[in-house]
Amino acid sequence: MLDINHLDTFYGKAQALWNISLSVDKGEIVALVGSNGAGKTTLLNTICGLLHPASGSISFLGERIDGLTPHAIVELGISHVPEGGRVFTSMTVRENLEMGAYTYHAWKRKDETIKQVYQVFPVLKERERQLARTLSGGEQQMLAVGRGLMSRPKLCLFDEPSYGLSPILVAEVFRVIKSLREQGITILLVEQNVRQTLEVADRACVLENGRVEVEGACDRLLTSDYVRKAYLGL
Ligand SMILES: Nc1ncnc2c1ncn2[C@@H]1O[C@H](COP(=O)(O)OP(=O)(O)OP(=O)(O)O)[C@@H](O)[C@H]1O
Ligand SMILES: [Mg+2]
Repeated sequence: MLDINHLDTFYGKAQALWNISLSVDKGEIVALVGSNGAGKTTLLNTICGLLHPASGSISFLGERIDGLTPHAIVELGISHVPEGGRVFTSMTVRENLEMGAYTYHAWKRKDETIKQVYQVFPVLKERERQLARTLSGGEQQMLAVGRGLMSRPKLCLFDEPSYGLSPILVAEVFRVIKSLREQGITILLVEQNVRQTLEVADRACVLENGRVEVEGACDRLLTSDYVRKAYLGL
């Protein structure tokens, strides 16, 4: 579904990603882990068109997308839930959700999609008319995920959706991610909760200093000495 080949991304003259190659198959959950500053957000921002790579390519369903605008990339079926959620604080919960449906195909089905999002997150229905700034941090995070689903994506890019949440809400986020996969949505997930992530994902890619350090099936990574020492504290 997603094919990244030999990707280099810069901020000005500073190189942040080096020769990244990664693929995501339809129906998979692929995790992207790595320490702070490893380049995880940079990679998601390059995929969704907020940053343009200096070299390399990104294809989605067989079509080159590097060089397209973020808007065109959403239209093709990729949704991005950014780090920290970034909801529109002075809009209501419902208006935030509607903003996520601003693509040609999604807009026509927005009422139906909002119902589905409310089924996943009943608290958003209860708070439908409230301004997003009055939601708790965890509720804002759920709203950001809900807004990401409003474009009816084929592939979701999640940047640390569980960041700052209580253990119960972290478990809830992982439950939602599994249920999205059951609904046929493919997921590329950036996470710092390495153990829980490796338990739900099919494959994972470990980034260090902007490079792919290790990549493979999660059951294999969970038992690898490198991952156990560096990320699981064992
Ligand atoms: N806007 C920017 N301008 C210049 N350098 C940046 C910018 N954003 C990120 N960087 C640098 O690029 C590198 C990768 O940052 P990135 O945000 O992708 O890391 P990350 O893996 O998402 O980290 P974290 O886990 O802390 O979110 C870091 O060295 C960072 O300082
Ligand atoms: Mg980040």
